[in-house]
Amino acid sequence: MRILGIESSCDETAAAVVEDGSRVLSSVIASQFSTHGMYGGVVPELASREHMRAIVPVVTEALDRAATKLEDLDAIAVTHGPGLVGSLLVGMTYAKALCFARNIPLIGVNHIEGHIHSVILEAGESIEFPALALVVSGGHTHIYHASHDYTYKLLGKTRDDAAGEAFDKVAKLLGFGWPGGPVVDLLAPYGNPAAVKFTFAKMSGNPLDFSFSGTKTAVLRWAEAQNMQAEIDARRALKDPKLEDWLAHTPQATLDLLASFQNHVIEELMRRVRILAEESDARALIISGGVACNLGLRRAAQTGGLPYPVFFPTRGLSTDNAAMIAAAAFPKLWRKEFSSFELRAYANLALA
Ligand code: KG4
Ligand code: ZN
Repeated sequence: MRILGIESSCDETAAAVVEDGSRVLSSVIASQFSTHGMYGGVVPELASREHMRAIVPVVTEALDRAATKLEDLDAIAVTHGPGLVGSLLVGMTYAKALCFARNIPLIGVNHIEGHIHSVILEAGESIEFPALALVVSGGHTHIYHASHDYTYKLLGKTRDDAAGEAFDKVAKLLGFGWPGGPVVDLLAPYGNPAAVKFTFAKMSGNPLDFSFSGTKTAVLRWAEAQNMQAEIDARRALKDPKLEDWLAHTPQATLDLLASFQNHVIEELMRRVRILAEESDARALIISGGVACNLGLRRAAQTGGLPYPVFFPTRGLSTDNAAMIAAAAFPKLWRKEFSSFELRAYANLALA
């Protein structure tokens, strides 16, 4: 069974052909990094326009690389939320048009479920259910209980910024550009993670919820107190900086701040996971989404003494891609859970 996946929820136009929910025949991603980088974040209207430019060549290339024709497809899966509505509509309109013209079933997929399936796609039956699924990206920090039939119960979520958003905002205010996660991850090993102490968020009500906005504000206050403007401006002026350029323009105190910030975010995530390790019936932990690329998080989860195995996607499948959307649609294809052409785009779309 072959599914074409289409993903356009944020700033990546992606298409992939996946066979039987586990074999990636092709995965093509057109990133809009160069469009948004100068603005320090995704500009929704520019994102929609870039998707319109990229959607036809990206889908065509995914089909060509997979040596697959439209008539070979059993379904087309498309992300219908959560995300930027103008961006979602580009992928959805194209998917609907292909399905209508060729009489192919359409399957709408929740982007968060896609991130969970980026791990299931690779690890397959080695993941025992029920599992915990921590989805940490630029838009989401959610933890779910996932059953073997891919139904989900939301256990906790961020009340303000997502973890990736905190990385992005901290990097931006310190002059490290956008997106922030990769550069903080790159520089954190050069700093002392215990140098700056952050206060752990106290959550009234659900202790499994997250909050990262206070951490970001603490970094801002720290930067103001240290009078860092000159070094921040010098970093902002760097053109296509590499590791050695960042290191040459970043004093040890700032490297210590980055390492401490990253360490704190990881510890906030791991605290929730440790509470659940004692309380839930889970037999595995899935960690996915862009922040799952973070080497410090991978190390902390894998060496954290958790009572079950931890599964991450390979780096290419951690950030937004369409293979995860096609993989998430595979069980729905089995169950004939098709979408009508009334399928709508949602900025907010809950998974559970
Ligand atoms: O999953 P994704 O591509 O898009 C969303 O659905 O949001 O995640 C992008 C986010 C960005 O906030 C980016 O800074 C973060 O993932 N990210 C990282 C790393 N690589 C990407 N955060 C921490 N460490 C990384 N290595
Ligand atoms: Zn994502």
